[in-house]
Amino acid sequence: MAESKGEAVVPESRSVDLYNTAYGNFATELLAQVRRETYGDDFGQSSWVTSDEYRRFFSLLGLQPTDHVLDIGCGSGGPALFLSRGVGCRVTGVDINKAGIRNGQALVQEAGQQDKVELQHCDVVQPLPFAEGTFDAIVCMDVICHLPDRGRLFSDWLRVLRPGGRLLYTDPVVVTGLVSNEEFATRSSTGYFEFGAIGVNERLIEAAGFRLMLVEEVTENEALASRRWCNARQSRSSELILLEGEETFAGLQRFLATVHKLTLERRLSRFVYLSQKTN
Ligand SMILES: C[S@@+](CC[C@H](N)C(=O)[O-])C[C@H]1O[C@@H](n2cnc3c(N)ncnc32)[C@H](O)[C@@H]1O
Repeated sequence: MAESKGEAVVPESRSVDLYNTAYGNFATELLAQVRRETYGDDFGQSSWVTSDEYRRFFSLLGLQPTDHVLDIGCGSGGPALFLSRGVGCRVTGVDINKAGIRNGQALVQEAGQQDKVELQHCDVVQPLPFAEGTFDAIVCMDVICHLPDRGRLFSDWLRVLRPGGRLLYTDPVVVTGLVSNEEFATRSSTGYFEFGAIGVNERLIEAAGFRLMLVEEVTENEALASRRWCNARQSRSSELILLEGEETFAGLQRFLATVHKLTLERRLSRFVYLSQKTN
């Protein structure tokens, strides 16, 4: 076979921009309709968390109105407002997505909650810009899979918690079955992803110095929401194609359908982890 003298062929990129699409168009009635059909109760989430589940997580954390909570990967800012209103506590949210932070700041202002909720643009892969012991609790909903060097990040999260402070996070892509290379590629088409086997989170949490208090499988919401999200978008395909373009529309539909299949069959699963800083 003749050796090719040209450049290596770069495979077609599969990446699809979920977060700029969701946060950049957050305020449109079209996306609000999609969120309502996806989650039932729309509080601006772009994860797999529903209002019932999130309230249960607040109870697991034992949150009090006097607490100051850090929301890592706060997305559109809606979940930080929901948390602050639900518990009465202060919330600081950080996210790398500028459209998300801009959107969140507008929501906070509209709600007149500036004294309770503060949102900052921040890449949480870097050391967090907060002093030791600043927070009573940390929440991190379906974000951990986007962050490299998880063990080092946990040490930083431990640092910014006060002694006795608690961390609750969900990992939506724990490997619990066989997943093909195609499926991994589509499931990770919305950004940087790390997939770990059962036991990896537990080991890293404890190695960082946390006391692990609870691990629970919570895949059902992801399987349900991904199907509803996919269907809600499909039934508005012409309007969404106008808004986000054909390629993004098709990429996001492929992504959502794959999330649904993998979680329905429990080949990828979602877990919640609750842990505590003991001293
Ligand atoms: C699945 S969304 C969840 C958003 C929000 N927690 C929610 O429940 O709606 C994941 C979020 O992680 C954020 N993210 C990804 N990498 C990040 C990083 N390095 N630093 C800060 N945020 C990051 C994304 O911008 C996105 O908003």
